[in-house]
Amino acid sequence: MKTITVKASQSYDVMIGSGLLNDAGKYISDVLKSRRTVIVSDDNVYPLYGEKLKNSLESVDFDVKEFVFPHGEQSKSHETLLNLYGFLASQNITRSDSVIALGGGVTGDLTGFAAASFLRGIDYVQIPTSLLAQIDSSVGGKTAVDIPAGKNLVGAFKQPRLVLADTDTLSTLPDTFFDDGMGEAVKYGMIWSSELFELIAGGNIKDHLEEMIVKCIDIKREVVETDEFDKGLRMILNFGHTLGHSIEKTQSFCGLSHGKAVAVGMYLMTRAAEKHGIITENISDRLKKCLEVNNLPYSVDIPAETLFRNSVNDKKRFSDDISVIICRTIGKADIVKMPIEDYKKLVTE
Ligand code: GLY
Repeated sequence: MKTITVKASQSYDVMIGSGLLNDAGKYISDVLKSRRTVIVSDDNVYPLYGEKLKNSLESVDFDVKEFVFPHGEQSKSHETLLNLYGFLASQNITRSDSVIALGGGVTGDLTGFAAASFLRGIDYVQIPTSLLAQIDSSVGGKTAVDIPAGKNLVGAFKQPRLVLADTDTLSTLPDTFFDDGMGEAVKYGMIWSSELFELIAGGNIKDHLEEMIVKCIDIKREVVETDEFDKGLRMILNFGHTLGHSIEKTQSFCGLSHGKAVAVGMYLMTRAAEKHGIITENISDRLKKCLEVNNLPYSVDIPAETLFRNSVNDKKRFSDDISVIICRTIGKADIVKMPIEDYKKLVTE
């Protein structure tokens, strides 16, 4: 088991290891004063791990209730959020009580946003059960729900009190969701660590899973500690995301999953930057091989014009310029601000 401490506006530990859920009650009781909590989970994850978590919490005298919602991105909505607020109110949850997110990114983002806003803020704990949530979304305090105008458009920064990443939960994750998380893992290698990239590119990542998760979280820790509120450095975590979000939007969020769309976005951006002389080293071929070895896509059947159009109202756009994340070498990312016209040429020509 490994513990990484994130020193943000509220500091907290991220614990990573096998079997953490068995002792979750103990770890959580160490950081929370109140013994009243609500587990928030979806109808896929709760049947797998809900009882185990509840028993562990009850063994250290927690009064536990559970709020279970239908799985899927469509639940990251105001409707589910309002139902959750209503449930918390009906249980007389007070400002000293807490919520616990048990699940993947949707659960973590929704629960985190409820925690940020209910009674103007209550404590929450993240127990991520997907690879993507363990290495990315559960750490760093970004919380959100979707609205019809776009994904994650309503949210808040709210750091959790504790993150428990039990690697055993990944054993029940279907392959396609595991691969999805690997898209974000490749991103961490590309933006920050050639050593991590090589570990992932070597294949057999399941033999090095805990090591990889720890490395990814430690990179996220360093980035979040430097720029918690996403005003500068943290933007590098969006490598591959501008085109990735465009792919997801073009496919009405029913095509490639997030991590896979990011994989394609990273490759297309890197290849385009090479073609336009922004990158002088040939790294796109190495990236492509790494994606292939990890069952990740690197192309998509969408015209470049459409990809461009659907990416320019991305949250990373400021006035007539756009901030594009480019890796000029493996293990290092730059934030390149350019006029939309230049960005259009980069993506379409
Ligand atoms: N997932 C990107 C961030 O946390 O900033």
